[in-house]
Amino acid sequence: MEGHAPAIVVEGLRKSFGPQRVLNGVNLRVEYGETLSVLGRSGTGKSVLLKLIVGLLKPDAGSIAIQGRDIAGLSLDQLNGIRKKIGFLFQQAALYDSLTVGENVAFPLKRHTSMSAAERRDRVRELLKQVGMEEHQGKMPSQISGGMQKRVGLARALALDPNILLFDEPTTGLDPITAGEIEELILRMQEQRRAASIVVTHDLHGAKTISDRLALVHEGNVLIEGAFEDLESSQDEFVSRFLRQGS
Ligand SMILES: Nc1ncnc2c1ncn2[C@@H]1O[C@H](COP(=O)(O)OP(=O)(O)O)[C@@H](O)[C@H]1O
Ligand SMILES: [Mg+2]
Repeated sequence: MEGHAPAIVVEGLRKSFGPQRVLNGVNLRVEYGETLSVLGRSGTGKSVLLKLIVGLLKPDAGSIAIQGRDIAGLSLDQLNGIRKKIGFLFQQAALYDSLTVGENVAFPLKRHTSMSAAERRDRVRELLKQVGMEEHQGKMPSQISGGMQKRVGLARALALDPNILLFDEPTTGLDPITAGEIEELILRMQEQRRAASIVVTHDLHGAKTISDRLALVHEGNVLIEGAFEDLESSQDEFVSRFLRQGS
């Protein structure tokens, strides 16, 4: 936790691709020690939102502040410094095909730390253990299932001990037991490390378990934001339909 600035503040965020308006003035705020679940039908811009926050896409308008610093004015160096504190899990795990599972997890350690090879080995083992993948260290991404790739992506996202976590559908496609383990991991990060997390998910039950607040994105905006109970008691027709039917 650095100072008292919130971990993430998003204001008036807009993003279009050509004529397609995806985000139309999104506001969000996440404090340290807090988990926000972002819900919404597919194609509503949830992945775009996370990519904007981490600086992989540029907004058309609006601002994004990480730990109180507007990322728009930062140099690439400064942006990289901030990215190191953010654990990002892509919707598709995005592992390096030509590296083994262990090498994928070691990658950020090699790049951003001065750890010795032995220290890296220990850290990689510990990270893979957290996600139940320690037996698969030597395999190539193509040799493991999509759900396993996701778990490795998660281990890699946690490698640098980030205090901001952005997870894009971390449990989609996982069996219920593994999904539950991932949820526990997110809760643990929040409680023990006071991490600030945004979790994009389609799993309402999981969202209720892990998050303090939920935000439902619809037609380019956050339609409703609050505790699960707030969403349940909403009179909005789309909100109740979404809660009944999910995405
Ligand atoms: N780089 C891009 N170029 C053009 N269109 C994009 C790009 N990224 C996302 N989109 C479009 O933006 C919309 C929202 O995408 P996305 O954020 O992936 O939705 P989701 O809520 O399912 O994660 C989709 O219509 C998608 O096709
Ligand atoms: Mg998505």
